[in-house]
Amino acid sequence: MARLLVTGGAGFIGANFVHYWSRRHPDDRLVVLDALTYAGVRESLPELGDERLRFVAGDVRDQAGVEGLLRAERLDTVVHFAAESHVDRSIAGPRHVVDVNVLGTLSLLEAARRVWIEDGPVAHRFHHVSTDEVYGSLGPEDPPFTEATPYAPNSPYAASKAAADHLVRAYHETYGLAVTISNCSNNYGPYHFPEKLIPLFIVNLLEGRDLPLYGEGVNVRDWLHVEDHCRGIERVLAAGRSGRVYNIGTRNERSNLEVVEQLCLAVDAAFERDGGLASRFPEAPPARGERCGARIRFVRDRPGHDLRYAIDPTRLETELGFAPRVEFAAGLEDTLRWYLDHEDWWRRILERGSYREWIRRHYGEAGDAP
Ligand code: NAD
Ligand code: TYD
Repeated sequence: MARLLVTGGAGFIGANFVHYWSRRHPDDRLVVLDALTYAGVRESLPELGDERLRFVAGDVRDQAGVEGLLRAERLDTVVHFAAESHVDRSIAGPRHVVDVNVLGTLSLLEAARRVWIEDGPVAHRFHHVSTDEVYGSLGPEDPPFTEATPYAPNSPYAASKAAADHLVRAYHETYGLAVTISNCSNNYGPYHFPEKLIPLFIVNLLEGRDLPLYGEGVNVRDWLHVEDHCRGIERVLAAGRSGRVYNIGTRNERSNLEVVEQLCLAVDAAFERDGGLASRFPEAPPARGERCGARIRFVRDRPGHDLRYAIDPTRLETELGFAPRVEFAAGLEDTLRWYLDHEDWWRRILERGSYREWIRRHYGEAGDAP
């Protein structure tokens, strides 16, 4: 039986991880530490009872608080998701992103070192969840990122994640902390905050708003269903070698335009299948006799917009036997279905003043044409 600290567990991937892990490892104890920033949604977590899941509202930068939790709960595993995760926000305000992502990771590492090594020894694992954005951007013909690709982050967000990765590695080399790191590309799935491409465009369509695609929509991302991501982390926790990095991906490269067009077709088809959707979402294009694709607008590009990310997951597959299960078309359909079935979840976010202000400022300034 393991005792896990899941940081950022009220966020998109962290919450999915808690759902996944609690289904697969019902005997394990989960402690979620989350500061409930704008991106944290307490309701995303399952109701499992105090024996199995404890929620702690707190900041990963509070080293003393984390040390206290590790001791009081006798935790032996950290899965570190907590971060400021949005590239656009990091461009608008880099200092806070660096503070949380770099110093937050440092505080956690320090707490783990003190409790597990200095006052230990305790058998442990510190798993750090990172991004492929640390590797920079690929040209159209470049081979996908491997774990040996040199770091070349382009946004403040990517640079902060790169710095955190280096700290995790340094704690392994310097203090012998048992660490693993995973880097993956864009996730999609349930509980995804509606500021990222797929959930934002789903709720925009349902609410009758346009779809602001940056530049010409040619940027390529390697889409990973969040459940396959959790599956990959599970393999790394079970069999990953301490000090080693694992790329998690499913070889699913698509341009933004391709993803958005596929999403538009899926929404059109959902309204055709289910006559009740038009009365629930009267502003949505299909409820007004329009095609969703007609709402795509090419807007001014993101500064420093990475052209292409692509992950080579060979190490995870060959060394740890990783086998993804979610095919993209089915995963996108399921994601759309989840947003249709959980209107209360996303509406609560849309009604927050801070969310409306962000959308107004960000997209109001984005401009209409590249
Ligand atoms: P998210 O923004 O949805 O959630 C982040 C969570 O961290 C929120 O619940 C927030 O309240 C919490 N948090 C923020 N600052 C905190 C602090 N100081 N202390 C405690 N909690 C804090 O992010 P996500 O998309 O779930 O990403 C999770 C991790 O995965 C991040 O480290 C991110 O860099 C990485 N990642 C994400 C993607 C992706 O596609 N979303 C891809 C690759 C890597
Ligand atoms: P995003 O979901 O913000 O993730 P990331 O920046 O980590 O890749 O964006 C995914 C892609 O979609 C990225 O190339 C930027 C693009 N994008 C748009 O074109 N319009 C939007 O409104 C958003 C949020 C993203």
